[in-house]
Amino acid sequence: MLDLDTRGDFARHRRLRSSPAMRRLVAETRLSASDFVYPLFVVPGQGVRAEIASMPGQYHLSLDQIPREAGELRQLGIPAVLLFGLPASKDEDGSGAYADDGIVQDAVRAFKDADPDLLVITDVCLCEYTSHGHCGVIIDGEVDNDRSVDLIARTALSHARAGADIVAPSDMMDGRVAAIRETLDDEGYVQTPIMAYSAKYASAFYGPFRVAADSAPQFGDRRGYQMDPPNVREALLEIEDDINEGADIVMVKPALSYLDVIAKARQEFDAPLAAYNVSGEYAMVKAAAAAGWIDGPRATMEILTSIKRAGADVIITYHAKEAARWLAAGG
Ligand code: PBG
Repeated sequence: MLDLDTRGDFARHRRLRSSPAMRRLVAETRLSASDFVYPLFVVPGQGVRAEIASMPGQYHLSLDQIPREAGELRQLGIPAVLLFGLPASKDEDGSGAYADDGIVQDAVRAFKDADPDLLVITDVCLCEYTSHGHCGVIIDGEVDNDRSVDLIARTALSHARAGADIVAPSDMMDGRVAAIRETLDDEGYVQTPIMAYSAKYASAFYGPFRVAADSAPQFGDRRGYQMDPPNVREALLEIEDDINEGADIVMVKPALSYLDVIAKARQEFDAPLAAYNVSGEYAMVKAAAAAGWIDGPRATMEILTSIKRAGADVIITYHAKEAARWLAAGG
């Protein structure tokens, strides 16, 4: 029996959950299409728009598809793309990464031609361009830090020359942010920001991406340069170093298993913080939704909200387009 005398002795939290409008009024976290960066994969050829098997709804696109893509992003209010390239051929030193007529450099020019207002961010790494699939130069069976940094800086410069608005090193070599900053400044690109993949973990959640980008290491793994999942204090050190080296935006990657890292980074640093909702996180939602085990749109919005609630200012996500559509429809 309810004792009527105790009514009022507890808070009625449910009052503010009573309708969609009430819930919207008191929502502490609000997603917007302007939070999103949309990653995409550019390939050689003509008329290519080929769905990526490991990432349903994502496509390999040839350069001629870029105007259509740019138009769609503008219409959806998504402010930025993050470009990855699959070169026609690979070599030991990943020379396709820093070729002035490389696939990403061409794609940057095509996007800027199609829509100068769309921000073009380039992933700066060697792994899609090296025959061995590592993110740097191999010497005696190891990825050599300092020689890799030279090529990474060269890659960033070639992207800036092509017109990239932001360069985003994802290799996890030490000292690469300082080297990129110095190279860009020396060449007159003092205004080009660096978004550093600062706390990038050696994660199983990159699996679908490595199929899409054909960038799986041919021997060994990336644990010698990407971070070890148990560590959070080390992530803060990495972020601090990147800020001191000149990073303008710092990033935590992946997002979902690292929401605590995002929250800590937000508490400790004032630089804009990005989080990368990676390929494996995307593929799991798509697979479970296709099997009818979860409600895909609801799960997606819950995930993106959690990343923002944890403290990310910028969310890099393959869900960007569909989420922008759902937001526009009032979801
Ligand atoms: C390149 C790079 C990777 C991703 C972004 N940049 C792959 C990797 O480090 O193996 C992963 C993105 C994703 O899984 O969505 N170094």
